[in-house]
Amino acid sequence: MKSMLWQPVNINKMEVKNRIVMPPMVTQYGSADGLPTERTRNYYEARAKGGAGLVIVEATMVHKRGHTFINHLSLSDDKAIPAWRQLTEVIHRHGAKAAVQIHHGGRMAKSKLMGMPPVAPSPIPAPGGEMPQELSKEEIKEIVNFFAQAAVRAKQADFDGVEIHAAHAYLIHQFLSASSNKRLDEYGGSVANRARFLIEIIHAIRDAVGNEYPVWCRISAQEYGIAEGITLQESKEIVKLAQEAGIDAVHVSASGPTAPNIQPLPKFTPGVLVNLAEAIKKSTVIPVIAVGKITPELGEKLIKEDKADLIAMGRALFADPDIPNKIAEGRLEDILPCIECFSCRSDLYTPGIVEVRCVVNPAMGKEAEFRIVRAAKPKKVLVIGGGPAGMEAARIAAMRGHAVTLWEKEPRLGGQLTQAATPPYKDRIGAFNQFLQTQLKKLGVTIETKKEATPSAVAEFKPDAAIVATGIKPMVPQIPGIEKANVVHAGDVLEGKAKVGKKVIVIGGEMVGCETAEFLADKGKKVTVTRRGPEMALGVTVTLRGFLLSRLEKKGVTLLPGVRYEEITPHGLVVTTKEGEKKTIEADTIVLAAGSTPNQELYNALKDKVPEVYLIGDCAKPRTLREALTEGQRTGLAI
Ligand SMILES: Cc1cc2nc3c(=O)[nH]c(=O)nc-3n(C[C@H](O)[C@H](O)[C@H](O)COP(=O)(O)OP(=O)(O)OC[C@H]3O[C@@H](n4cnc5c(N)ncnc54)[C@H](O)[C@@H]3O)c2cc1C
Ligand SMILES: Cc1cc2nc3c(=O)[nH]c(=O)nc-3n(C[C@H](O)[C@H](O)[C@H](O)COP(=O)(O)O)c2cc1C
Ligand code: SF4
Repeated sequence: MKSMLWQPVNINKMEVKNRIVMPPMVTQYGSADGLPTERTRNYYEARAKGGAGLVIVEATMVHKRGHTFINHLSLSDDKAIPAWRQLTEVIHRHGAKAAVQIHHGGRMAKSKLMGMPPVAPSPIPAPGGEMPQELSKEEIKEIVNFFAQAAVRAKQADFDGVEIHAAHAYLIHQFLSASSNKRLDEYGGSVANRARFLIEIIHAIRDAVGNEYPVWCRISAQEYGIAEGITLQESKEIVKLAQEAGIDAVHVSASGPTAPNIQPLPKFTPGVLVNLAEAIKKSTVIPVIAVGKITPELGEKLIKEDKADLIAMGRALFADPDIPNKIAEGRLEDILPCIECFSCRSDLYTPGIVEVRCVVNPAMGKEAEFRIVRAAKPKKVLVIGGGPAGMEAARIAAMRGHAVTLWEKEPRLGGQLTQAATPPYKDRIGAFNQFLQTQLKKLGVTIETKKEATPSAVAEFKPDAAIVATGIKPMVPQIPGIEKANVVHAGDVLEGKAKVGKKVIVIGGEMVGCETAEFLADKGKKVTVTRRGPEMALGVTVTLRGFLLSRLEKKGVTLLPGVRYEEITPHGLVVTTKEGEKKTIEADTIVLAAGSTPNQELYNALKDKVPEVYLIGDCAKPRTLREALTEGQRTGLAI
């Protein structure tokens, strides 16, 4: 039976060829003045070419007073229309429908981008945000008009529809939520009053674009972790009012600090917001778009069981733009999985980073640079090291037609990924590891495990090119007594190669140390994490660090940053705390997560002996998966 995902569906007069939607996601690939660029076009074209039925272009401001992100796209000026037309043209080229999400940041907009303070229904700042100015009724009317004008421009730029961004704590949402709307006039108080701004926007857009133009809105059907936040019951009322005002569909998202769609869960859980979509669907007749960690299998089920009409796959399409085509061809094992690291989300909030990137897909937003073309002259390529850097280099080189052999000294591939996938919240790294291994097999890469590369073995093999991806050596800190103590490496603990007792001290409080501590705490161990630096887990991305540290606290892990190591005794570790107190922390096992050094000996021995030699991943410098994969891919393309 043909998949339900391939049944066309209508939103108003717009027929979408399949049920798969690319939801709006800010990329920051636009120009400083808010125009889509060549980079924007390449990025969206790749997703349309990959088979999505409907591509909704990211949050795009209707007026400069809503400027929220650097390089925030804008539909606030007629002059922009020709540049936008170029974008809709590349999306349409592949049979996808194109929509754009129209947006105003309200109190989330940044004064440093606008040169004036942000605005909001009430003068209440978002947590950690700026104090906004309360909007007057005249200003509200003006903004309603800005939305209508932006919708008209979208229509003129050949968009097939517009999505009104009424979710995620931006301006319209700020009116909808009693937590941010304390107005005493007709825009505050009851649900109908709080929805008035949205309803006026819908009416104004309808008047401007006509009845047949598809217009819908995205809502946060529930706010999680916010006192007086929007409830599902309120959302049903809001959708009813919006439907009466003339929307053609509703896109059901959620928000709030504890919302399950903005953080990883202990084990990957598909469809974290499906209950909301289903509830909204029961209360309305217009099509419902569901979103939130939706897998192809779940998407199929949701459509079949009539719990949603379309399914949106967000980060999944960051990681692999070709998912729809791969589903259609029955090649689920070829889908490059998102690892739920939320680094893309962190990019939006990390000072100094002005583009959204995907850890597992270095080609995201760099589609032209990372295009895979067949090699002019196939070469005999030897990859040394079966971690992610080596596997990615092997994958790309093999896709380009090179004859690739990979040697790995351990009995299994994966390198540090095997350990990284073990702690809670990290299981998608295992799926990614599996993806790489499956691809190497399908591409015919010759894989030899338990094969340690030595200079003589490489010389005997006579490769045209050698890629050295030998990873790291864990560091052992110089602490008196360390040689006599029960000391194990974090990687070995996570891989089940080393046993630990009941009381454990982890030396090293970066990501590996903290995650190993959580893994051990879950096993009932009493764990203390120590580090020399003043703060724990500084290398963890901004969106995940808080979650990680609060989980450790809840699980009873003691965190001791800023210590000086004195000595290791048969009873435990002696430290001087940051307060200057000398104390012994009792332990039967010391787990080392104290950093690593690059494993470069082989590279140094080979560099003048093989015609082409490359050094990639952690063995060039210990870093993260992003660099390992980027260098793997670049090298696979360079050979
Ligand atoms: C617990 C843990 C959690 C982590 N979590 C994350 C995370 O959430 N996000 C992130 O971005 N990064 C994470 N990392 C870091 C990430 O896993 C590494 O940056 C990445 O694995 C580096 O890849 P690589 O291929 O360069 O090296 P490795 O993964 O170390 O692979 C090197 C491989 O080379 C093999 N090898 C070495 N010498 C030889 C030889 N002479 N012959 C043959 N084979 C050889 C090794 O056995 C190994 O398999 C984590 C790491 C750990 C340990
Ligand atoms: C980097 C990033 C940017 C996003 N930008 C937007 C946006 O512009 N508008 C919006 O409504 N949602 C935005 N979202 C939310 C996504 O559209 C989507 O709802 C979310 O990622 C959950 O779906 P997923 O689990 O399929 O990724 C963004 C998410 C991420 C990670
Ligand atoms: S950066 Fe991480 S969370 Fe975001 S799409 Fe890529 S793998 Fe997924």
